[in-house]
Order: sequence, then structure tokens, then C-alpha cells
Amino acid sequence: METSSKQLRIGLAGLGNVGSGVYKNLLRNRDILLERTGVHLQVAKIAVRDPDRKRDVEVPPEMLTADWQELISDPQIDIIVELIGEGEEAFALITAALKAGKAVVTGNKAVLAKHGKQLVELSEQQNTPLYCEAAVAGGIPIIKAVREALIGNRIDSIYGIINGTSNYILTRMTTAGISFSDALQEAREKGFAEADPTLDINGWDAGHKAIILGWISYGRWLKPEEISVAGIENVSSEDVAFANSLGYEIKLLGVIRQGKDDERIEVRVAPSLIPRTHILSSVDGVFNAVAVHGNVVGETLFYGSGAGQDATSSAVISDLADAAENLMNDVGCTGFVPHGDYGEALPVEETLSQYYLRLSVVDEPGVLAQISSITGQNGIGILSVIQPEPKEPSEYIPLVLLLHDAPYGTVRSALEAVLALSSVGSEHTLLRVETLER
Ligand code: HSE
Repeated sequence: METSSKQLRIGLAGLGNVGSGVYKNLLRNRDILLERTGVHLQVAKIAVRDPDRKRDVEVPPEMLTADWQELISDPQIDIIVELIGEGEEAFALITAALKAGKAVVTGNKAVLAKHGKQLVELSEQQNTPLYCEAAVAGGIPIIKAVREALIGNRIDSIYGIINGTSNYILTRMTTAGISFSDALQEAREKGFAEADPTLDINGWDAGHKAIILGWISYGRWLKPEEISVAGIENVSSEDVAFANSLGYEIKLLGVIRQGKDDERIEVRVAPSLIPRTHILSSVDGVFNAVAVHGNVVGETLFYGSGAGQDATSSAVISDLADAAENLMNDVGCTGFVPHGDYGEALPVEETLSQYYLRLSVVDEPGVLAQISSITGQNGIGILSVIQPEPKEPSEYIPLVLLLHDAPYGTVRSALEAVLALSSVGSEHTLLRVETLER
């Protein structure tokens, strides 16, 4: 990295919500950052799509350019902060910056989840760091925590509520009893959901973050097709009410873990029932929380704002401070290189958990026996059963089963057989129940 003395000259790509926060907060905490790092962290140039657009943050117009290549080709710029959003353009920008020997800070989880392996290899080849604290859980310093503070541990498991929008929606469905679509509308009105909330709702925003946590913990960039991702769009108010009555909260949960005797790595995201006795169940609203279990430290929990301008810019600035420290100490590639490379992906069919199964059944003798015969033949034990008394006559009534630990593939095939019974309707919900042990 070419440097000016005791200055880290930043090329900022993107001046949206987070980019504006980075600009504003670098100015706000300029003095303490200088005091702590010994380096002036100075934004030198900013690439935006439309330099003439009116913005919330005031920026000297001469700093703006519509061409991000200008940040890369400017020899005065030491480091690129990439905050332009998803897509191949961000990948091209990060690649070009690393090739030009400029360190990169990015918050781009989608690009890392898709191209992380290639980008980290390029960073190593170029001896040029790539930092990504802002890509996972916004303001919670989870990457630094796992990589640095927990370096003495084998990471047994990470359980994370890592999408604020989904958590807000599920919290409102639980506390206000409103429907998914009303809660989503509310999240939009309050500005929590993205303009296009597709990735929040279908689970993939959390999926991308889970892939990055898998890499940090186990050194493997699992491909999107190697992990299992489900979103909250099919969670109904009825399921929320049943889960609550059974002593659980429904949360969109990321699971990143490695078997005790099996080196294979499990990375998945799904709406899951969490026991009310576990602290993660009380993480409400737009907050995120990540529980990390290390074989030395035991249980740890990180809680905070997982999104938003200030929280996410705090993470970006921490990466800039690391870059400044490396600059002062003339260190080369010290981006987020994981501790090792430990094993393949565990296929989702083999992943184990308990389950919540809501069926709609005809209210007649023998139905439960037919269903339990199928679960029994598949080696799946039933933990409990609820069949609320029907309030009025109807063709189908709900039947809720909690199932013992079983491989997901076995449960899916048992479910297919159950749904083929003439006394069972097609409407059903299958959710994971996570005991969050270890
Ligand atoms: N849209 C995300 C969330 C924040 O709701 O948590 C950025 O990943």
C-alpha cells in the first residue's frame, strides 16, 4: 500500500445510508481516532452514481466523482471503502482495488458470500488487506470477536439473529398479534426494511452473513447451494401463537456449527422455535444477537444494532482504524484470514434438530395413530402433541406435534407420507426447534 505519512487517504465508493454515516462519523470522531491510531483518517474522494443529487450529508462538491475508477487510479488514495451495494459492480470494484494494491473495506455480504474465496485469495496474492466487519450484524463486532478475541477456541457453534427486519416482523407478530404482511408494512413505514426487502424476507441476507461466519470460524467458503436457507414469509400468526403457548419464540436463526465427532460444517438459516429460557429468545425488534460457543470460553453473547447508518459505520470505521494501525506498523496482508480450513459442508438432509409440525387433520378417530405410526416407522419420536378443541365445526382442525431430534431428510420424507393420508389436509408448517445446546 502506498501511503502518505501518517495519513490514511480514503476513497469512499457509495454515499448512501452507510456511506454518509461513515463520512459523518469520521468527521465527528476525527480527534479521538487520531489520538488512538496516530493516523489522520481522511476521506479524499467519493464515488457516487449521481454527483448532483441532493444528500443528507454535506460534502465538498469537488470531492465527488461519478466514476469509481478514479478512486482506484488516484495514487494518493490508500484505501477503498466499498459501500455501493449488491451486484457485480461491487465485485469489479473490490477486485480492481486489490489488484491496484489498495486495501479494501467492504460491508458487502452478498458479494463476499458469492465471491469471497476468490477475493480473499486475491488479497493474499496481492499482500493487500480486505476487511469486512460491517458485512455481518452491523454494529456488533462479531468478526473481530471470533477472529481475535476467541482465537484460543475451537468454535463449537454460532447461533445468530442476524437480520433485523425479520426480527422486527416476528416480534410484532408476537407482541401485537398482527399478520406477517401488516408487520412488513410497519417495518417499511419505520424505515427498517430495505426498499426491496426480498433478501431480508427470504432469508438470504442472513444466509450471506452465515456464509461469512462459516468462513471466519471454519475457513471454508461454503457455496450458497451448500447451505440451507428459508425465510419468514410463510410464518403465520397461528404458528406464532402455538409456539408461544408451548414456551417458545419464533426467530429467524442462523446456525453455524461443526459436529463434535464429525468435522463437517453445518450452515443454515430458518425460522426456528427457540425456548423462552434461552436469552436469544428475548432479542426483540430490529436488534441482532450472536451467541458463540467456544471450547475454551464456553458461551458468549454479542448483542446490538445489526443495521442502520451509525451502527454499520461504526464497524466500517473499526476496519479503517485497523488499516491505519497496520499502516503505522508497516504490516502487509492482515485482513480477515481465518484460523484454518476444517471440513466439508454437512448436507441439509443430515442436519439434526427437533421440529414443530402443524398439520390440518380431519377430526376423526385413528388419525393420530396413523400419523404416529409413520413417524415411528421413520424412527422419529414425538415429544408432545396439541390438538385444541375446535371452536366451531370445520372440515380440518389443527394438530401440532413437537418431534424429537431427527435428520431433516428423514423428517421431510415422513412428512410426505403423512400428507398423503386421506385424513390430513395439505396446509401445514414444518419449523425447526433449536435447543441451542453447545
Ligand atoms: N437489511 C438488513 C437487516 C441489514 O434487516 O438486518 C443489512 O444487512
